[in-house]
Amino acid sequence: MINIAILGFGTVGSGVAELIDRNIETIRRTVPSDIYVKYILDLRDFPGSRYQDRVVHDFDIILNDPDIRIICETMGGKEPARTFTEKALQRGISVCTSNKELVAAYGPALLRTARQNGCSYLFEASVGGGIPIIRPMNTSLTPEYITDIAGILNGTTNYIMTRMEHDGVSFEDALRQAQINGYAERNPEADVEGHDACRKIAILSSLMCGRTVRYEDIPCEGISRVTTDDFLYARELGMAIKLLGLSRRAEDGSTFYVRTAPFMVPASHPLHSVEDVFNAVFVHGNMVDNLMFYGRGAGKAPTASAVVSDILEEARTLGRNIPVNWSDEVMTLSDPAQESFRRFVRMKDADMSEIPAIFGQVRYVSPEGRPEGETAFITEMMTESQFDSAISRTSSVVSTMRLLG
Ligand code: HSE
Repeated sequence: MINIAILGFGTVGSGVAELIDRNIETIRRTVPSDIYVKYILDLRDFPGSRYQDRVVHDFDIILNDPDIRIICETMGGKEPARTFTEKALQRGISVCTSNKELVAAYGPALLRTARQNGCSYLFEASVGGGIPIIRPMNTSLTPEYITDIAGILNGTTNYIMTRMEHDGVSFEDALRQAQINGYAERNPEADVEGHDACRKIAILSSLMCGRTVRYEDIPCEGISRVTTDDFLYARELGMAIKLLGLSRRAEDGSTFYVRTAPFMVPASHPLHSVEDVFNAVFVHGNMVDNLMFYGRGAGKAPTASAVVSDILEEARTLGRNIPVNWSDEVMTLSDPAQESFRRFVRMKDADMSEIPAIFGQVRYVSPEGRPEGETAFITEMMTESQFDSAISRTSSVVSTMRLLG
């Protein structure tokens, strides 16, 4: 019997316990011993739950029980999750987590503690919910020279934008629905303002280069300024609007451009048709060419599935460290002002003669029903600094969005 403890019995933590119960026969075929949830740490008691007799409120009970071999941290947030994880790893107890905030902030330090103590720290569920992407990055793709990662990494915002696009509902109604379905964080700001996606692209970029890409260094925009009118133009252009995390090697290969922002995605790109709570991670490697990993990026069962995959890997490798190529050397990113994109631009009461003078050659888009007095177009490739200097020469710009590809 391998005894485990779950820290935090919210959506994901309770999903882990339920999955282990439901799929116990399948699990028995893949690990040498039964997995048993001996403790659940939470502030609440869960009276009437089948797990109520395993609930404890003191982490030291778990830490001091020599039977516990694996801890599953599904608390979220930095503290006390960091302290509990560090203490467990120091005792040689393997930890797995869905906590992207903790992984993005302290991943390399926790990996080092695991290495030094002959145990493992795994975080499959921290990116892409149920999609296996961390393990492939850490195993199957290690021979690849990866040049690009583009990901729809936040289920809540993808769900919100899909509802806005197809059902014409307001942002607020779509967000409420996402919360009812258990996709959104309690504080939706992390989803809506792009911080959640930013942490996830920081984790993927770190695995791509083996060093630490700090999420604080990544330019980050969310979806709060995307409007239903933007979808009108996108539809006319045959594009979808997606919140993307992008990581691209600079021309000399030495470093990366990394960014989180809403993008218009052309129909020819595989990310175009990723809708609702689904996430996808598009990866380009120099030998394998294009790959896409697709699945449910949020929600109880899919995220629990990813956590349990880590529990089972740790159960199969007890007493040794599963290596993860991620050092704490900080990666200096390319200057974001030099990154180039095509741009979608909306202008109000524009002087048509100034547009080519300021933006160069453009392609106009004029859908039926667009707001009165608006002119919209797509530019050729421009660096961020060229574009910023162009828009500083006019006061008519209503909004802009980058294009993928
Ligand atoms: N709030 C996150 C999302 C949960 O919507 O993607 C999964 O990390």
